[in-house]
Amino acid sequence: MEKKDIDWSGLGFGYVQTDKRFVANYKNGAWDEGTLTDDANIVMNECAGVLQYAQTCFEGLKAYTTEDGRTVCFRPDLNAERMFDTAKRLEMPPFPKDKFIDAVKQVVKANEAWVPPYGSGATLYLRPYMFGINPVIGVKPAEDYQFRIFATPVGPYFKGGAKPLTLCVSDFDRAAPHGTGHIKAGLNYAMSLHPIVEAHKAGYAENMYLDAATRTKVEETGGANFLFITKDNKVVTPKSNSILPSITRRSLMYVAKEYLGLEAEEREVHFDEVKDFAECGLCGTAAVISPVGKIVDHGKEICFPSGMEEMGPITKKLYDTLTGIQMGRIDAPEGWIVEI
Ligand code: PLP
Ligand code: COI
Repeated sequence: MEKKDIDWSGLGFGYVQTDKRFVANYKNGAWDEGTLTDDANIVMNECAGVLQYAQTCFEGLKAYTTEDGRTVCFRPDLNAERMFDTAKRLEMPPFPKDKFIDAVKQVVKANEAWVPPYGSGATLYLRPYMFGINPVIGVKPAEDYQFRIFATPVGPYFKGGAKPLTLCVSDFDRAAPHGTGHIKAGLNYAMSLHPIVEAHKAGYAENMYLDAATRTKVEETGGANFLFITKDNKVVTPKSNSILPSITRRSLMYVAKEYLGLEAEEREVHFDEVKDFAECGLCGTAAVISPVGKIVDHGKEICFPSGMEEMGPITKKLYDTLTGIQMGRIDAPEGWIVEI
């Protein structure tokens, strides 16, 4: 397979239109088989449910070229499952999990020339999404839906690649205690746009959101979960019902325990104890693991001992092991790697 002639290493996290995308429609109470299409545009009624009441959700996963030249995806079954759960919470018809995985495979295969080469630092990001498409004017769920997956080659989510980030503690809340923080609804991201623009204007890479009820516990950022490393090398990640159950975070907790022999704990993390951690990172499909060097809380700085120059040593081990598994350099646990 001849690859596209692109400066792969120069890619940021942006949209590049690729050749094929998958589209399936839900009408009269059933999903159709779906098909690949060249058409990157969507035509819909002015009153479509997604346009009026934001009935939309999405997923994110990646395809990689392994060291030995295979094309693989990382744990697409977990994206299928999470989208299923998200759809139920948003009163959308869940897209069947086996069909989701099949559609992922079709899109990667059809865009194989866009899967960045091994060692380029880029990957093919896949964006499954679903939305209410028929006219809806009273507040109620749509009756017809469209499910799509497109692919776009991407580089690092944060500018500067692996350079530690500076975050700020947000004055805004991301998710209510019994709200939608645990699902991947578009509305969670719409509400985060103002806080992220404000954070960027003030020179921060991302927001640290605290729990909305008490503002004492760490939740997550707009697009990634937190990982902390204690001074005695324990991996700690916040437990909360209002954060997204990150597939990367769940994988890293397993990697920490089973590959690196570290203690790994998911528990409530009080903001007061953040200053005592040795390392901090953000984890997610887009973020992979992005190190955090500093968190600013209304002028008060928390500087992690790992510093502003490079990843902390445990974060680095987690990063190397996870990306090693994704790129086929390290044996993966059963079922984690799906070959295309
Ligand atoms: N948290 C939020 C709010 C996200 O948008 C994402 C991205 O998907 C994550 C966490 C990381 O999740 P995952 O590792 O499944 O990509
Ligand atoms: C992902 O990591 O896949 C996400 O959806 C996060 C988003 C902020 C790009």
